[in-house]
Amino acid sequence: MAPNALSRHLALTGFMGAGKSTMGAQVARRLGRHFIDLDREIEARAGSTIAELFVRDGEASFRALEESVAASVLGAAEPAVIALGGGSVLSGETRERLCGCAFTVLLDVDLETAWQRASRSARPLASDEHSFRALFQERIPIYEETADGHARDLDGVVLAAAGIDVGIGAIELLGELVPGDGPIEIVADATVAGIHGVTAQLSLGARDIATHEVPAGEPAKVIGVLDNLWRSLRIGRDGTIVALGGGCTTDVAGFAAATWMRGVPWAAVPTTLVGQVDAAIGGKTAVDLPGGKNLVGCFHWPARVVIDPGTLETLPEAEMRNGMAEVVKTGLLMGSPVWEQPLAELVRRCASFKAGVCLGDPHDRGPRNQLNLGHTFAHALEAAAGYDLPHGQAVALGLLAALRLSGNDEALASVQSELDPRPVKLDRDAAWAALARDKKSVGGVPRLVLLERNGQPTWGNEVGGAEIRAALDSLICD
Ligand SMILES: NC(=O)c1ccc[n+]([C@@H]2O[C@H](COP(=O)([O-])OP(=O)(O)OC[C@H]3O[C@@H](n4cnc5c(N)ncnc54)[C@H](O)[C@@H]3O)[C@@H](O)[C@H]2O)c1
Repeated sequence: MAPNALSRHLALTGFMGAGKSTMGAQVARRLGRHFIDLDREIEARAGSTIAELFVRDGEASFRALEESVAASVLGAAEPAVIALGGGSVLSGETRERLCGCAFTVLLDVDLETAWQRASRSARPLASDEHSFRALFQERIPIYEETADGHARDLDGVVLAAAGIDVGIGAIELLGELVPGDGPIEIVADATVAGIHGVTAQLSLGARDIATHEVPAGEPAKVIGVLDNLWRSLRIGRDGTIVALGGGCTTDVAGFAAATWMRGVPWAAVPTTLVGQVDAAIGGKTAVDLPGGKNLVGCFHWPARVVIDPGTLETLPEAEMRNGMAEVVKTGLLMGSPVWEQPLAELVRRCASFKAGVCLGDPHDRGPRNQLNLGHTFAHALEAAAGYDLPHGQAVALGLLAALRLSGNDEALASVQSELDPRPVKLDRDAAWAALARDKKSVGGVPRLVLLERNGQPTWGNEVGGAEIRAALDSLICD
């Protein structure tokens, strides 16, 4: 089974009326991929509607045509989003092709909804309710056999495509969710190991052969900790590293997985809000150097991300606030006040948003830039404060600066009301010097992510140095 749709087609399958065409187009927009609706493609190539083809040539002839169009669409090298026809997986040849070059998500739909939707259309196989019901039961096992993942809505499709499971209690299913059957070594800090380690170990059962402790927080992300991990890991290339904890743990353990034996699979089990909506998603792994954060790292997409919002119950309030800054940023980028949702749904939707952006730009060459909204300023404040400023507070202030420069009063009001950021006392010149060192600066002037309208970010913006300086100064008090 394919682990994700990172470098494969994303195929949507399911019964008539599951919403494959509508959702396929939406998923393609999120991932920045080309969308192909197989039924429309067949009609375009045949010059007739499917209903006409059924009447004129019969179902067998239609299926043969469908198989050949599916072969041509799936044969294209550039990964696309493909909505399959409800009956296309009846072909063994198409099922084999899907297995070879696609990640297939089964769109679950209940029989009543499927009938209500399909009976209103001109589908040739939806004219009689009795046979529609029989066909539904008959097709279920074939859909199941082909499915790499299941989903009921847009966010679910994107999460499945990224190899992410979200749900209260998911940590108890770790043993089923981590791919493969080789040995597993867990990496966690003492706090997280003490609270959630046993649940993870019990679920992983005999596959779990060791737990490695790393320091809590940023001190985990240093070469010395990585060196200790390299010296103590025992798995071979058939093994998997499971990173259990916050973003610091997933960053260092993911990097250990990327480098151990030239790369072994890893699974992330984030237990902080920052980790669940951001750090564990997208495959960026890194450690820090004395000269700066995240200076050494690589892209190594996790084989699985298992997000259990229930683990947040034990997270200290200050860490929740750090995460809420990322949640508000995500809501502004997606153009929806996601922060108003209940916690589990908020996590699911934010995780899906980040997953979609990263699937569309896995190596950070374009749209992924938008995730830096407010972060250029936040990093400068953190550096000037000697990293003695909570990340959430820095991000909240950074958002204020970016949104003031964007002239977006609506978003500014949301940040004020949800995060209530207060100016910090630190050296203005040190913050300005740190801003000029930003990785995305050109000639000492940073390129900014702006958000003139919620849901419509732009990146790589050149803004005058004086304006940027004024925005930065407004975040600092004497
Ligand atoms: N790779 C990426 O794409 C990415 C994105 C964003 C942030 N990051 C990185 O993430 C790091 C910050 O991660 P973080 O904010 O998750 O903090 P963290 O990893 O430092 O964890 C914060 C603290 O919370 C504790 N903790 C974790 N889960 C807990 C739980 N369920 N109950 C009780 N305590 C718990 C930990 O022991 C730790 O002390 C930074 O180093 C940042 O660079 C990476």
